[in-house]
Amino acid sequence: MNPTIPRIFVFLLVVLGVYLWIGYSITALTGGGGDDTAVVDITPEGGETIYWGKGRCFTCHSVGGQGSAVRGPNHGQFGEKFPQPMGARAIERAAERSAKEGVEFTAVDYIVESMASPGAYIVEGYKNEMAVVYAPPISLELKEIKAVVAYLMALGGDLDMEAIDTNPSDVTAGLYSKISAAAEAGGGDPEEGIIVYEDNCQECHMLNDDGGGEIGPDLTGIAAIGLDGLSEAILAPAKAMTEGYETHVVKNKEGRQFIGLKTRDEDGEVDITNALGDVETLDKADIETISVDDTVSIMPDDIAEVITVKEYQDLLSFLMLQKPVEEQ
Ligand code: HEC
Ligand code: HEC
Repeated sequence: MNPTIPRIFVFLLVVLGVYLWIGYSITALTGGGGDDTAVVDITPEGGETIYWGKGRCFTCHSVGGQGSAVRGPNHGQFGEKFPQPMGARAIERAAERSAKEGVEFTAVDYIVESMASPGAYIVEGYKNEMAVVYAPPISLELKEIKAVVAYLMALGGDLDMEAIDTNPSDVTAGLYSKISAAAEAGGGDPEEGIIVYEDNCQECHMLNDDGGGEIGPDLTGIAAIGLDGLSEAILAPAKAMTEGYETHVVKNKEGRQFIGLKTRDEDGEVDITNALGDVETLDKADIETISVDDTVSIMPDDIAEVITVKEYQDLLSFLMLQKPVEEQ
């Protein structure tokens, strides 16, 4: 195991649920979203807004006859399969969780856990494919999660705002801290992220002293650029071009074109290194034009199409642990 990953973090993150691509595709295809900056109150109404909007719950869940998604359990009372709405059902589920964990679970604890660690309890007949709702691309804030809990508890349950917000049980308080810590680290599993990194990034980037390619910048301590900085660097490399790594386009007098990084400029020669790491040495006397194209990076910009959302969340978590050495 990578010694730079504090064990407690691994513990917190490893238990997070699996976020399958298929689930994401459905989420993405059916739109969802809404106003990402909307601020809601911690009330059932606020939660309803999140549920049918930014939280994208409706892309997998329905509430009684409202909505049509069936990937996840219906949250209302619906047919024989769902005799009780979520607020009431949560009391039964909580009893099961208490028996299994040997710790008392309340209905609120159960619903909070379903979002904090979706993989902890899998509803019979369903797959472990609930989204991590506090990680990109859904990225609910804790306040929004509390609002959704209020919405679901109000569906046939005993709505106790103290248990949800101001005076949570130890179990809920622990899950809330976990959500905050995990959201800050990208919401994924950093150990899985190592594999994603090795498969997709290492060929171009050095990291710590573990080797890697030298086409892109050394990523040691890269957590310093923050979660947003990392997301942008990975999803839209050209928008956040690292200085000194601009893409150069060179045309020689024979009309041939070379695209890559200018990795050497001396003695009347220029080296252009392409994305594969191949170096072309050009005599300046043979160059017709040389220019910088700031609309493309040598770093591929289709990573989101190549890896799943779960892999992306795992990768971000791993990179968020790459703190500058002196801070460790
Ligand atoms: C990608 C699909 C998907 C999305 C998006 C999703 N869920 Fe789920 N959810 C599931 C699946 C599948 C299950 C059943 C498997 C399990 O228990 O983890 C589930 C289970 C649940 C349960 C437990 C239900 C029960 O009967 O005990 C709750 C509560 C829940 N989700 C809430 C939410 C909320 C709230 C949101 C939005 C903030 C949400 N889910 C978003 C797929 C999803
Ligand atoms: C073909 C080579 C290549 C691959 C593969 C590649 N990168 Fe890059 N990366 C670069 C280059 C070149 C730059 C500098 C230009 C830029 O900022 O886009 C860069 C920049 C970055 C930066 C910004 C660094 C800084 O100091 O601001 C991050 C973060 C990054 N890459 C992460 C990744 C991750 C994560 C992966 C794997 C998913 C990856 N890269 C895959 C070549 C690559």
